[in-house]
Amino acid sequence: MRLSRYFLPVLKENPAEAQIVSHRYMLRAGMIKQQAAGIYSWLPLGFKVLRRIEQIVHEEQIRAGHIPLLMPTLQPADLWRESGRYDDYGQEMLRIKDRQDREMLYGPTNEEMITDIFRSHVNSYKDLPLTLYHIQWKFRDEMRPRFGVMRGREFLMKDGYNFDLTKEDALHAYNRHLVSYLRTYERMGLQAIPMRADSGPIGGDDTHEFLVLASTGESEVFYDSAVTDIRLGSREIDYDDKAQCQAVMEEFTSLYARTDETHDAALFDAIPEERRKSARGIEVGQIFYFGTKYSEPMGATVVTPDGARVPVHMGSHGIGVSRLLGAIIEASHDDKGIIWPEGVTPFHAGIVNLKQGDAGTDSACEAIYGALKARGLDPLYDDRDERAGAKFATMDLIGLPWRITVGPRGLAANKVELTSRRTGVSEEMSPEAAVARVVEIYAGL
Ligand SMILES: Nc1ncnc2c1ncn2[C@@H]1O[C@H](COP(=O)(O)OP(=O)(O)O)[C@@H](O)[C@H]1O
Ligand SMILES: [Mg+2]
Repeated sequence: MRLSRYFLPVLKENPAEAQIVSHRYMLRAGMIKQQAAGIYSWLPLGFKVLRRIEQIVHEEQIRAGHIPLLMPTLQPADLWRESGRYDDYGQEMLRIKDRQDREMLYGPTNEEMITDIFRSHVNSYKDLPLTLYHIQWKFRDEMRPRFGVMRGREFLMKDGYNFDLTKEDALHAYNRHLVSYLRTYERMGLQAIPMRADSGPIGGDDTHEFLVLASTGESEVFYDSAVTDIRLGSREIDYDDKAQCQAVMEEFTSLYARTDETHDAALFDAIPEERRKSARGIEVGQIFYFGTKYSEPMGATVVTPDGARVPVHMGSHGIGVSRLLGAIIEASHDDKGIIWPEGVTPFHAGIVNLKQGDAGTDSACEAIYGALKARGLDPLYDDRDERAGAKFATMDLIGLPWRITVGPRGLAANKVELTSRRTGVSEEMSPEAAVARVVEIYAGL
């Protein structure tokens, strides 16, 4: 993309309504525009990051053996009467009537609908195990929408649902989700710690929330600092291997880590004092096992090998896709702007032309731009007729992890500058070497 032809409505001033840094930078970098309280348009730069995050979520779910589908945003109220949640859900649910006076709602989550799909098409234990998921917009009429996309009313969520014959199989699905979520967040450059949580309106006893530590987080958390040393890294996972998934789950959840809802002071005080931490965190996902809570009232049953009919064991598993943009920025920024991790950056590298209109720098920039694109990368070329300072400020604000700076003085010695947004360190090298380095950086992702 050439910046002169892009749509990047950067704001010079700090928007008064933004209380936290991620919201401020998303507005300033022209990523989102508020349309109503908690409802946003995703402008091109924000939309690009949203799509990258979605893509990682899809890849990791598919790797775990989970199957994508797409359910609608609008749902009939009757489905929710079957589970008893139509009345329980209260004011957070946006209720709508169509022209025939039928009661509808904008889905805040999809347990009922997926259970309806399951019971309509699945009859036998032979069709299990099964995990279906989608990435779809949700609406919750939050009392206090705030912090931009962090607590929206309309927000994008990945929600997945497992159907299993036995509790043991369903707990394997739970572990599979836990492991796949760890990998998902790590690919986004995030450390999200699974913490024992409270199940709220979904129901059930087994649940973990994934929290990114950040001072602006809405949740209060208590943990043993040793949990922050554990990484999944690049280890091979066989998602069909029950023992391996169980072992990873235990590795990540046996140290103390809880949200305030389940915090137990006596257990916490047993941790050596120097490792006892309390902090704030952003909830970026949650997994649940809730047994037959929905399958029983809604008649989602299968025939067992000995001919009996039993309700299936279920769980649901969510990732806050749109919230993740805010969480990543809270975890990765400085006073000049965002610092995107390579895994989710909207463009792989920025190219800054220090002397637009100079035949030599123009053609060197074009060559770099073409070479990066030819290698399958997505560069952003700042080809505007602007001062160098303004170009650098824009690049720093929008946070591309790598910048190639091209000016007449360097070119005279066949040199450009490659700068890391994270460290601020610049290195001089030939244009070809800069392209090769950027290609190499992204090769493993
Ligand atoms: N209002 C919201 N705005 C943005 N993301 C949200 C919102 N509510 C929930 N999410 C995200 O969706 C994920 C799954 O939702 P869920 O656990 O059902 O939400 P909650 O715990 O808030 O009831 C959460 O972990 C969170 O990351
Ligand atoms: Mg939750």
